[in-house]
Amino acid sequence: MSNWFTVARIGHEFLGEVLSQGDAAIDGTMGNGHDTLFLAQRVGPQGKVYAFDIQEQAVQRTRERLVSHGSLDQRVELIQDGHQNVRRYIEHPIRAAIYNLGYLPGGNHEIITETQTTLRAVEDTLDLLVSGGRMVIVVYPGHPGGKLEQESVEYMVSKLNPLKFKVLKMTLINRPPSAPGVIFIEKVAEKSEN
Ligand SMILES: C[S@@+](CC[C@H](N)C(=O)[O-])C[C@H]1O[C@@H](n2cnc3c(N)ncnc32)[C@H](O)[C@@H]1O
Repeated sequence: MSNWFTVARIGHEFLGEVLSQGDAAIDGTMGNGHDTLFLAQRVGPQGKVYAFDIQEQAVQRTRERLVSHGSLDQRVELIQDGHQNVRRYIEHPIRAAIYNLGYLPGGNHEIITETQTTLRAVEDTLDLLVSGGRMVIVVYPGHPGGKLEQESVEYMVSKLNPLKFKVLKMTLINRPPSAPGVIFIEKVAEKSEN
């Protein structure tokens, strides 16, 4: 099994623990639709997934994947727009989010997520998370621009208030530094007064 799928699977496990039927979730980078499909299966028919990508090709591939799994497109809003505009589309709290950064596998490798828009999107998505909600960010430092994006995202999440967020980073320590990494974030559940 390739590394990409291993990294993705660990992210899915982390999100799957908190996602239930009827929840709302975000896929910040739909790409080929693997993550959107996972979220759609987890939230069930009463749930809702908001999936973003700037490329029409990604939207098409994701739609095809969802349809081929039994009309799961019905529970997904496929949004051809940058994830930095997430707040234009979503106002209510969400339970889980995944951002699988970089370029579209099998597509144009020059169209990549960009540091400034990624940072804005991550910040806004963290605001939307419910207490106990989780977010996964998969970073790819191996392509041009990817290392800066990884370092910038890591710096930003390293500054999150530890009373509000738990943040964990996973790296493949027996692989070159260009190997993908995963950042796991959980919004800390607020304690009740009594
Ligand atoms: C690694 S791929 C995503 C893989 C995908 N999650 C999957 O399951 O197949 C990264 C995607 O991010 C998209 N992307 C780049 N900039 C973006 C932006 N500002 N907003 C949303 N998506 C963006 C690219 O078009 C590409 O399809």
